[in-house]
Amino acid sequence: MLLRNRFLYCCALAALLAFLSLSSFSFFSRWLPVSMQLKTPVHVLPGLPVRLVPIAPEREGALTAKNRKRIMPDLLTEPSAPDPLYEANLYCNTPGVAERSMEGHAPHNFKLLSVQVMIRHGDRYPLYAIPKTKRPDIDCVLEPDRDPSHPNLADFISHMTKGSEAQMDGTLSSLPRYPSHSLCEMGELTQTGVVQHLYNGQILRENYLKKHKLLTKDWTAKQVYIESTGKSRTLQSGLALLYSFLPGFDWKKISVKHQWSSIFCSGHCDCPMRNHYLEEEQRRQYSYRIKNAQLEKTYIDMAKVVGVPTKQLRASNPIDSLLCHFCHNVTFPCTKNGCINIEHFKTIKAHQIEDERERHEKQLYYKYALLATYPLLNQTVSRMQRISEGKKAEAFALYSAHDVTLSPVLSAIGLTEARFPRFAARLVFELWQNTDKPQDHYVRILYNGEDLTFQTSFCREQERRSSRPLCPLSKFVNFVKREMFSALNSTSYYDACRQKMF
Ligand SMILES: *[C@@H]1O[C@H](CO)[C@@H](O)[C@H](O)[C@H]1NC(C)=O
Ligand SMILES: *[C@@H]1O[C@H](CO)[C@@H](O)[C@H](O)[C@H]1NC(C)=O
Ligand SMILES: *[C@@H]1O[C@H](CO)[C@@H](O)[C@H](O)[C@H]1NC(C)=O
Repeated sequence: MLLRNRFLYCCALAALLAFLSLSSFSFFSRWLPVSMQLKTPVHVLPGLPVRLVPIAPEREGALTAKNRKRIMPDLLTEPSAPDPLYEANLYCNTPGVAERSMEGHAPHNFKLLSVQVMIRHGDRYPLYAIPKTKRPDIDCVLEPDRDPSHPNLADFISHMTKGSEAQMDGTLSSLPRYPSHSLCEMGELTQTGVVQHLYNGQILRENYLKKHKLLTKDWTAKQVYIESTGKSRTLQSGLALLYSFLPGFDWKKISVKHQWSSIFCSGHCDCPMRNHYLEEEQRRQYSYRIKNAQLEKTYIDMAKVVGVPTKQLRASNPIDSLLCHFCHNVTFPCTKNGCINIEHFKTIKAHQIEDERERHEKQLYYKYALLATYPLLNQTVSRMQRISEGKKAEAFALYSAHDVTLSPVLSAIGLTEARFPRFAARLVFELWQNTDKPQDHYVRILYNGEDLTFQTSFCREQERRSSRPLCPLSKFVNFVKREMFSALNSTSYYDACRQKMF
């Protein structure tokens, strides 16, 4: 018992230290599930074929589903119980599947004033190798002729080679602006990842620049805000999105702020209660995991295949690597003892989905999320307020980040049905003005193109039935300035961070 408690404590402490350190993203992802249920998605993709077959040229273009909705309407019903392979396919976010995006939709008398976008980086090479197995053979050199590709890919590469005039904070200036290794490095953005964000940028361009003229041709450096963590995959993802959003942009107008914290807490990171809730959440996760006998058996099985102790196998976070095999249609690793197989993969993935559900029930993560995301949401809402008061602020802001950035934001604003951030996930905050009543400002919140405004805790469904077509900005402001703390029995960020612990 004592030993176990000590082990738990060490786990939590290690987790915490890893989380707080610069290279934390990876560790946290290991603990956090990758997917969850969404009961009423706007766009539903039929489960894609299971991909198990050996290394072959990627043919993701073949997955393109032009208007599946019209052609095969009965495939639109989602599996009733969460299907791990279906979920894994959504997580991969393979380019080429047509998607309906609701960004920029508002009544004709509404004017778009600003857009703030938080993205997760695109598809990347695993952060960990499975011990004693061959790493998946994936090429991170960008090749416009190889699938998946995007019409802007060749121009993107050429534009990135000219970027020396950009203002990049600190270490960002020393990072490569696009991926380039013929065997991807650990954590490196892949061509798939670049293409995913070229598509994101294209969608934002259509909806915000072409339809709503959010920025004019002669936009200035002051209108665009960009912030990225210090990883090459986030910087490169941000640049890819930006390139499709503003093709051929003038590098002299670009400045990228470096964010050292994966939760973007900038100068407000000191928050003991946040760490406390994170430790509690990790304890919950640990005890939930050891209760799952099938999962334990799967790890033991896999460890035998690989030929290392179970503990070592588990510590190598095999699901991260297996997802990469899965998303890239590369066979799972084999050794002389056998192969890791799809059943192993399904068991771990299914556990992640169940864990995500338990995580919501227990609310520890929610409390962590409120504290973790306050500085970022405060910045988001402050920018909206400044603009609504007619003061100067950026019309377009881009935060290029990680799953551990987006996931707590979703939790904090009450989007409990939203899936865990897939590769190249995008979360958008729009600010609108009613031109008939210029004092009235509204927000819309979209996740992967889907309008979730009325699923947030501060603007639930009933709002829609009232005469207001969108969510009033005041509700969002009130949520960030007050409700986030009242949920923690507190009145300010400072107090909520320093409550008496027990
Ligand atoms: C995966 O690879 C196999 C060949 O090894 C190929 O037949 C199959 O079409 C590929 N699947 C996808 C979705 O690309
Ligand atoms: C919240 O935003 C305001 C206005 O930008 C700023 O002055 C304040 O320091 C921020 N507080 C935190 C904790 O981020
Ligand atoms: C806030 O106070 C209520 C009532 O005292 C309690 O039930 C709840 O757990 C508290 N919440 C937090 C986050 O401490």
